[in-house]
Amino acid sequence: MKIGIIGAGNIGGSLGKVWSEKGHEIVFGVRDPASEKSRKALEETGTTVKAVSLAEAAAFAEVLVLAIPFAAVKETIPLLGDITGKTIIDATNRFSPPQSGESAISVLDVAKWAAGAHVVKAFSTIGWEVIRNPIFKGVAVATFICGENAEAKETVLSLASDTGLDAVDAGPLENVGALDGLSKLWIYIMQHGGSRDMAFTLIRR
Ligand SMILES: NC(=O)c1ccc[n+]([C@@H]2O[C@H](COP(=O)([O-])OP(=O)(O)OC[C@H]3O[C@@H](n4cnc5c(N)ncnc54)[C@H](OP(=O)(O)O)[C@@H]3O)[C@@H](O)[C@H]2O)c1
Repeated sequence: MKIGIIGAGNIGGSLGKVWSEKGHEIVFGVRDPASEKSRKALEETGTTVKAVSLAEAAAFAEVLVLAIPFAAVKETIPLLGDITGKTIIDATNRFSPPQSGESAISVLDVAKWAAGAHVVKAFSTIGWEVIRNPIFKGVAVATFICGENAEAKETVLSLASDTGLDAVDAGPLENVGALDGLSKLWIYIMQHGGSRDMAFTLIRR
């Protein structure tokens, strides 16, 4: 699949690495292809992967991933050009309170700003290290996936499974409120005696 990863940092670089190893065609859409993060991501993913402009990445890709700070999302989406019908994976977390007029659930704002595209939330509740190594004590860590468009969600479930994570359909975008809570809880525990080497998951009998 042709995937444009917007942002080549911890999350973008990790997804690019594991998906390129699975044979997906990856480009990083970045503001500066020469930045330290862009160069590191390119080094790790191999010679077939390129860092291009945001608009070039969007034109190339069937699926786009937002792997940039939430604060940059609103100004970045218009720079992607025509995103009608594309699947956009929102991996961001907003830790600041909503600005005036914004939703309590940040992905609902992303879906509004990216009108015409199919926004799917994924990868937001796990540390980037887990994307590179998703197995804890023999169990694949879950990534909870929410979206409105069934076909787009199926695509993201499949791409998430390709990383080795346990891809869990967690319902519509409204349910992302619970995921945002999980992300906050993860950070609280990590900062109060925990470590980054931990993850929430779904255990089944
Ligand atoms: N880190 C985690 O474990 C984790 C887990 C789950 C979700 N997330 C979420 O994933 C997103 C990315 O996190 P990260 O840890 O990967 O961040 P990061 O390592 O700091 O990388 C951020 C990327 O975004 C780009 N960027 C920064 N500001 C930008 C702007 N104004 N416009 C366009 N691009 C910009 C950076 O480009 P430059 O190289 O030019 O600076 C870089 O490529 C965040 O929303 C975060 O909340 C992170």
